[in-house]
Amino acid sequence: MARKKQFKTEMISDKDGIRFATPEPVAEYRAKRLQCKTIADISCGIGGQALFFAKYCDFVYAIEIDPKKIAFAKKNARIMGVDNIEFIVGDALSSEAIEKLPQLDVVFSDPARPPAEKKRSIDNLSPSIPEVMEAYAGISSNFAFEAPPQLSPEKIPFDCEREYMSLEGKLNRLNLYFGELKKADVSAVALPGSNIIRKTGKIEPAIKVEETALYAYEPEECVTKAGLLEQLVAELKKESNDIAIFDIDDKRTLLSSENEIENSLFKNSYKKLLVTDTDFSQINSFLKKNSFGKVIVRAAIEPERYWDVRNELENDLDGERKAHLFVKNEKAILFEVLDH
Ligand SMILES: C[S@@+](CC[C@H](N)C(=O)[O-])C[C@H]1O[C@@H](n2cnc3c(N)ncnc32)[C@H](O)[C@@H]1O
Repeated sequence: MARKKQFKTEMISDKDGIRFATPEPVAEYRAKRLQCKTIADISCGIGGQALFFAKYCDFVYAIEIDPKKIAFAKKNARIMGVDNIEFIVGDALSSEAIEKLPQLDVVFSDPARPPAEKKRSIDNLSPSIPEVMEAYAGISSNFAFEAPPQLSPEKIPFDCEREYMSLEGKLNRLNLYFGELKKADVSAVALPGSNIIRKTGKIEPAIKVEETALYAYEPEECVTKAGLLEQLVAELKKESNDIAIFDIDDKRTLLSSENEIENSLFKNSYKKLLVTDTDFSQINSFLKKNSFGKVIVRAAIEPERYWDVRNELENDLDGERKAHLFVKNEKAILFEVLDH
């Protein structure tokens, strides 16, 4: 079976293999970050990540416990004309597999996780992080792992960098970097895009505003999950001195500025249209007058009321424009997404 999953090149796989394969933008990003001479991907699956390591590293060792998956990985390498990977079938924690490896610049693992878990746990990864680090201690001191992004920091009891990653606007991955690969305690990156944010030492506390300026920016979830919103504000100050945090409600926080800023760590960039009372017919007439056709409601309303509210706001609208409506302290704030 050949299926596409954000792969420019079609990967050959069974259903399970493609489901867990690394999306191409993630594989490319990690391969660039881990670029070195000799790397091992010790749970390579059908090769989604290992094939990208082969593009950036001199030589790749790819281990996989499931013979069917590694057969797909080999086929994928052949199709793509990749010849700098040695595939090893076996348990990555076994001495038989480890004995086949030389000294390695980097050991990487995107381990298997149980398909269903009430709460994600670092202990249920296979192969497990502590076991890998112990088994490979003799041949490498630089490790990188993928872990479930839902894990809270206290569930990651290691001295490593936690890199939260968004892909196409959604929190997608958590990468852990050890040894010389660690560049900060915590970082965030949103793909596709090139802006990366890393926690530094002391930063000035961010200013909070009660009213939004002309432009508002919705941070990617990787930034908030990493706890790096204030860090982002501190870094954006170089570009826009008035950048501030604009808390809307418990679930929604935007950044606000009079200046238009571009950054791939913004999921959405908005221009303010109107701040008014939450009077739906008044909002509806404004939207009608200004050629709007749709309103995305971004407020804390009960799910069963969502469409009633939206139908009222969109009543008789026939324009092409789309508004986004937030509500803070009973005031409606209408924005339009900026095209960057
Ligand atoms: C999430 S998948 C990896 C996907 C891969 N990164 C890709 O992009 O195609 C995890 C893989 O780890 C393999 N695995 C689990 N335990 C292992 C072990 N002890 N040794 C080697 N491979 C293992 C599983 O068979 C599975 O294919």
